[in-house]
Amino acid sequence: MLEHGGRLIAASRRYGIAPEQWLDVSTGINPLGWPIPQIPADLWRRLPEEEDGLVDAARRYLDARHVLPVAGTQAAIQALPTLRPESRVGVLSPAYAEHGHSWRKSGHSVMDWNQDMSINGLDVLVVVNPNNPTGQRFSRSRLLAWHQELVLRDGWLVVDEAYTDPTPEHSIAAHCAKPGLIVLRSLGKFFGLPGARVGFVLAEHGFLRRLQSLLGPWAVPGPSRWIAQQALLDTAWQQTQRDHLVARGRRLEALLKGHGLAPSGGTALFQWVQFPEAAALHARLAAQGILTRLFDQPQSLRFGLPGGDAEWDRLDRSLKASV
Ligand SMILES: Cc1ncc(COP(=O)(O)O)c(C=O)c1O
Repeated sequence: MLEHGGRLIAASRRYGIAPEQWLDVSTGINPLGWPIPQIPADLWRRLPEEEDGLVDAARRYLDARHVLPVAGTQAAIQALPTLRPESRVGVLSPAYAEHGHSWRKSGHSVMDWNQDMSINGLDVLVVVNPNNPTGQRFSRSRLLAWHQELVLRDGWLVVDEAYTDPTPEHSIAAHCAKPGLIVLRSLGKFFGLPGARVGFVLAEHGFLRRLQSLLGPWAVPGPSRWIAQQALLDTAWQQTQRDHLVARGRRLEALLKGHGLAPSGGTALFQWVQFPEAAALHARLAAQGILTRLFDQPQSLRFGLPGGDAEWDRLDRSLKASV
């Protein structure tokens, strides 16, 4: 199993601090996520149905022709490599490590790829846009040019847009009816609903059918489908959040800079700071009940957004005491 942020119970055991006393900024999840209303009890008592309106809501929200709901994008990340014969795969690195892990596990020949390399000789290119944790962005024109090149050899471009929602103008969702273009979207980050386990795969219709048949029926639970649909329809909440999150991302960047931790990159939902003493600062903050995400390659910390004012103050005070 790979390391991930958000393991509060494990951190609580390790540092002897009760889970409710932590400020968890170890993930890039919106701390003020979509407010969940009461879930109709009937949804627990019936099997999920495809015709419940979720797909239409997702198509409208994502501006995409074809959409398949999945149990978090993680489910798709694990399934995609099983839908290709052995291939030469370039996976953006560093990035969300589950991509490379999944392709390797399925026996493909995987290369850690970065934007200075060519895509000659690759059958599949996997990028995260904007990238987690580096914040790096790829322009739509560059992505589409790569796609055009890959599709000539029956290849795929996989674009993980888990962090695109605060700035949807960077999405290539509208292009994903093209063969060989696969886009992943998550309800976990912007909507702040990772526990619902809902994500979407956007691709050509026939490809989505193959993926759906691999994942089987009822892949996403009914209550999660219902929550997802309500959240996707709530355009007023989405617009307010976009403005707030972009401003909060800048506030976090300024806060870190003020403590001598200038981020090397980030998005509205997290900032990434590379420095050789990352492990020591991670431990000092954890000893005060502040959980950050530590990476060793390269040595770096990712900071997600604090929630209310008290959390911003707490992070500020702890950084002052620790840096
Ligand atoms: C870039 C990226 N993609 C995908 C995922 C998986 O998210 P989920 O399965 O909740 O949609 C994560 C989770 O951290 C992520 O950071």
